[in-house]
Amino acid sequence: MPHEPVMVAEVTELLGGRRTVIDMTVGGGGHAAALLGSGVGRVVGVDRDPVAVALASDRLAGFGERFRAVLALHSDVGEELAGEEVDGVLYDLGLSSMQLDRPERGFGYRQDGPLDMRMGMGTAGAPAGAPGADEPSAADLVNGLSERELADLIFRFGGERKSRRIAAAIVRRRPIRTTDQLAGVVVGAVGRRPGGPHPARRTFQALRIAVNRELEELAVSLPQAVGFLVPGGRVVVIAYHSLDDAIVKRALREDERLRVLTKKPLRPSDEEVARNPRARSARLRAAERAGEAA
Ligand SMILES: C[S@@+](CC[C@H](N)C(=O)[O-])C[C@H]1O[C@@H](n2cnc3c(N)ncnc32)[C@H](O)[C@@H]1O
Repeated sequence: MPHEPVMVAEVTELLGGRRTVIDMTVGGGGHAAALLGSGVGRVVGVDRDPVAVALASDRLAGFGERFRAVLALHSDVGEELAGEEVDGVLYDLGLSSMQLDRPERGFGYRQDGPLDMRMGMGTAGAPAGAPGADEPSAADLVNGLSERELADLIFRFGGERKSRRIAAAIVRRRPIRTTDQLAGVVVGAVGRRPGGPHPARRTFQALRIAVNRELEELAVSLPQAVGFLVPGGRVVVIAYHSLDDAIVKRALREDERLRVLTKKPLRPSDEEVARNPRARSARLRAAERAGEAA
């Protein structure tokens, strides 16, 4: 299924009419297309996932020179942006539906696949040196960490209260190579409540965050992005879980170069959530770089 972009109206309202926007998480290019369609002059679309970069390039080819794609970690785009007069930056964090829905990427507990979860891919089709290609996969963590390290990881990044029981069950059943195996081990350890969320949800989230070093990436990248902005330029961030949102809230609030535009985070409308359940947990925060606009 193509990825449906979240809170598009709010994003275009905040970034509409800008000259150059860096889309740090271009994914399938949904937000980038909306921004270009709403009159933004140019968009540079960054993603660590070669599949996303290829898809977005294809989809946005009709915009010609107004769109450029960059395969990189968003913490590592400095050189690529040299010479750009950036007056907007967008982050739409987390996974795209294209990543989640492909079993071979190993993100989902509902379909069987290899226990991978790297957003930048080491798998077939990725160019040599693609970001993430040589990083450990979820299987490496699950099979290589100690029971204590696994329990801490699942608790810290998944907020899972039964993390110790899950870690003990994982260690008993290793090696674990597939998403089905891992989901089965978690269900066996903690049981399943009829009608409740899938018991492996938090364990999978924790592993994904750890594999992709998502929190470190964001904490490093945000202040750098503010540094790219001209006075009057805006940064807009959509986060989907509280760990990301806490980093965003703090980074925007504590950066003396910024004026926060969203006292409370903006939330998607009920109508959007009904249409696109993925939007349910979205929180959008925005800030503007201080000083006279150029
Ligand atoms: C929610 S999707 C973005 C969807 C996009 N806004 C759209 O409308 O199609 C998030 C994307 O960010 C990418 N990503 C996540 N962390 C990244 C990082 N540290 N550096 C670069 N890209 C990253 C993922 O690979 C994924 O494609």
